[in-house]
Amino acid sequence: MSRILHRDTRMSLPQAVGGEGIHVLDSTGKRYIDASGGAAVSCLGHGHPDVTRAMKAQMEQLAYAHTSFFTTAVAEELAATLITDAPKGISHVYFVSGGSEAVEAALKMARQYFVEKGEPQRRHFIARRQSYHGNTLGALAVGGNQWRRRQFAPLLIDVAHVSPCYEYRDRRQDETAEQYGERLAQELEAKIRELGSDSVMAFVAETVGGATSGAITPVAGYFRKVREVCDRYGVLLILDEVMCGMGRTGTLHACEQEGIAPDLMCIAKGLGGGYQPIGAVLLQQKVYDAFAKGSGFFQHGHTYLGHAVACAASLEVQRVIKRDNLLDNVKRQGANLTAKLQERFGNHHHIGDIRGRGLFQAIELVRDRTNKSPFDPALRLHARIKREGMNRGLMVYPMGGTIDGQRGDHVLLAPPFIVTDADLDAIVERLGAAVDAVLKEAA
Ligand SMILES: Cc1ncc(COP(=O)(O)O)c(C=O)c1O
Repeated sequence: MSRILHRDTRMSLPQAVGGEGIHVLDSTGKRYIDASGGAAVSCLGHGHPDVTRAMKAQMEQLAYAHTSFFTTAVAEELAATLITDAPKGISHVYFVSGGSEAVEAALKMARQYFVEKGEPQRRHFIARRQSYHGNTLGALAVGGNQWRRRQFAPLLIDVAHVSPCYEYRDRRQDETAEQYGERLAQELEAKIRELGSDSVMAFVAETVGGATSGAITPVAGYFRKVREVCDRYGVLLILDEVMCGMGRTGTLHACEQEGIAPDLMCIAKGLGGGYQPIGAVLLQQKVYDAFAKGSGFFQHGHTYLGHAVACAASLEVQRVIKRDNLLDNVKRQGANLTAKLQERFGNHHHIGDIRGRGLFQAIELVRDRTNKSPFDPALRLHARIKREGMNRGLMVYPMGGTIDGQRGDHVLLAPPFIVTDADLDAIVERLGAAVDAVLKEAA
């Protein structure tokens, strides 16, 4: 009997005992293709010898030194690397241990930034419906997924939510993608004015929507317009690239493809590739300066900030990605994956949309393609697809509530950056079989 409070007490989980490349092995000897990198984490796959070597060397030298006493060479080197490759104007890094912590830190950093600047009246965050920013209370409050928020609602800070950029469902027939992006930017501007044009701290958004929305990509120009609106009102733009960042969409940061730089950016998952828990907030020079020229002290902190072994793992993950030109593979295999998904599901009666960027893609299930109506949520198709996938030795990341936190199902794919053409064939073949088995049962 397990003494762990697992995520779902009703489930019986296989025991993972090993990992090799894109595979995870369980205690019965069964191999699973990790086509989701867990939750878009394992960007280098499993058991990478260079990373384990770097971690071992760091552990032998120094595993941990509290950041109120010391800095370490490995944390400094990782920060320097991240800044060299960061979007324009980003000058400093704040290390944490995961995605939710990164979002919490960014929210508090935004608030203290305005206090330092003498604008303490700024107290509102605006975020988007259907977003996911993590499960701690601040991150959950900015998150827009109704199902996740509901029972904790009395504990959450008040956050205003505007529409996501969800072209498949929300772009009107009578508007171009550009007009749709413009309409969304106007909605954001109206919300800022409604809350008080000098009282909003930040707009928080995933550059490419992930866990709860299924790889929804912004229409061209949307984020440029959002950036303009934020600048007009002195509102910070916080991009959450915890899932879509660190190479997953084919560029190191997803916002590079949008032609903008955020004021604060949250990264995690692919930063350490699952070898260690690590996340970070990247901040603009002006934010750093507000602290440095103000109180000099960011009133935050956790015990494991900048953990030396986590930094060593992350530094090596990022070094290997560069050394092996893996972002080229993300682009190449991403295009391949799109083509294979199109071939397998493009004419499928119950797949309404195939979307995403790089090795971050999703299919959205519908009962009827013509009117895009979803399946009954009670069928829990997403959970059944996950189970059927596992039965076939395939890990994918399906989720329900795609449309509004309740209705809609999608399956997210986020394979390791080392994936090959043959791997993708196996992934799409097994996914097709899992989806069809579930739909046959549900019909
Ligand atoms: C966009 C985004 N932000 C934040 C988080 C939270 O990260 P973590 O689970 O590491 O706390 C996630 C996790 O899926 C995420 O996808």
